[in-house]
Formats: sequence, structure tokens, C-alpha cells
Amino acid sequence: MSPTVRIAPSILSCDFARIGEELRRAEAAGADWHHIDVMDGHFVPNLTIGPPVVEAVAKAASIPLDVHLMIERPIDWVARYAKARPEVLTFHVEACAGLDEARATVRAVRDAGVPKVGVSLRPGTAIEALEPLLDVVDLVLVMSVEPGFGGQGVRPETLSKPRRLRQLGWRGIVEIDGGVNASTLGSCVEAGCDALVAGSALYNELDMTAAIARFRSLAAQAAQRGSHVA
Ligand code: DX5
Ligand code: ZN
Repeated sequence: MSPTVRIAPSILSCDFARIGEELRRAEAAGADWHHIDVMDGHFVPNLTIGPPVVEAVAKAASIPLDVHLMIERPIDWVARYAKARPEVLTFHVEACAGLDEARATVRAVRDAGVPKVGVSLRPGTAIEALEPLLDVVDLVLVMSVEPGFGGQGVRPETLSKPRRLRQLGWRGIVEIDGGVNASTLGSCVEAGCDALVAGSALYNELDMTAAIARFRSLAAQAAQRGSHVA
């Protein structure tokens, strides 16, 4: 568990016509990671960006990339997305044809030299589905909304997952994605999350610097209330 909470604005809510400026806006505002949502129109009912754009974002960025693959059979794509040298490459356990393929995907991400391997799960997938992977991943990305679109509200029942991970004694990074804003982030951090993805709540703010500062102060207060956070 990290002593400080990482904040990852999701470029899904940025102005894609001005992506370089938007990346710099998030960096100047104090973001830790750029969260990059890759969707294939099959695993989720939306289509976003592919490898060339992720590589272009990587060239323009001066903070690490946190790439969230919402695509079928991620193992087939790991090498392509690893070319952008992300800090984190996360895939969905449901997108793999079984646990053996999920384990092979983790190995492929490591073999590609990506520093942190993440695994994610939809709101309807139980944490038990990825328990066998906890020893081999660095990050669990808990989806607090059905993946595919920004601007939805946190499903409160999904917060049982970070709680469960911390009860199990898991000390990796627990990231939460979907509906995170100044009103909801406290309960996420109290539940054990130490990385926060936010699209609309950060990119839609005129003053992202103030918004991130507010996130940090609310997260620090919540971390003190949450017994599991150092
Ligand atoms: C949703 C994406 C999220 C999305 C979050 O499927 O994975 O990263 O950008 O957007 P907000 O913060 O607006 O819910
Ligand atoms: Zn995401």
C-alpha cells in the first residue's frame, strides 16, 4: 500500500482535438499518472483509441501512463501496448479465456518490461475470480461502474472489493475507476483504495489544479479514517 494516494485523470474526458495541451494541463495540475482507456467495441460497447495514439500520448507525456485495456484477449495486444512504455498495463480478468490465459497475460506484460502489471474486474465479477492472481500482479483496478463510458455514478456495492483485498492482507495498489469525485473519493480511500482514476470530475473542471489539490486533501483525511491505510 502506498502511503500517498495516486491521482490519475482519465483522458477519456479530455478534449481529444487538443490532446497534447490536455495532457500538459493535467501534468501542471499535479496529476501522478495519465489514465488511458483503451476500448475495442467488443469487450465494452464503446471504441476509443489504439496503439498509435497511445504511443503518441506517451511521447507527449512527462508523467507515467496508466493504461487500462478494455479489450478481448488482451494477451494478443500486450506487446503492441507495451511499446508505449507505460508504467502500468492493466487487463480485465473477464477478457481472458480462463485463469491460465490470465496468468500467461501477466507473464507477457512482465516479459515486455512493463514495471507494473494490473488486473481489473467489472462490477459483477467477484473478487474471488482474481484471487489466484494476487501473488503475481502489482495493482488491482476495481471498476466502480460498468466499463465503457465516463460520467457514471459509483456503485456502492463495489467498495466491498477494496475492503476484501485489504482484509486478505493484500498490500499492492488498489485503484478505483468510475464515478470518482470529491463526494465519493473519501469512501473509496476508506475502503482501501490508494489510486484514484477520475475523468469527468477532473477534466471538466476549469481549474484542475484546485480540483486535484482538493482530491489530495480529502484523500489524506479519508486515509486517516481508514484503519488499513498506513
Ligand atoms: C470507464 C473508464 C473510466 C472513465 C471514468 O469505463 O474506465 O476510466 O474515464 O470516467 P468518470 O471518472 O467520468 O466516471
Ligand atoms: Zn479506466
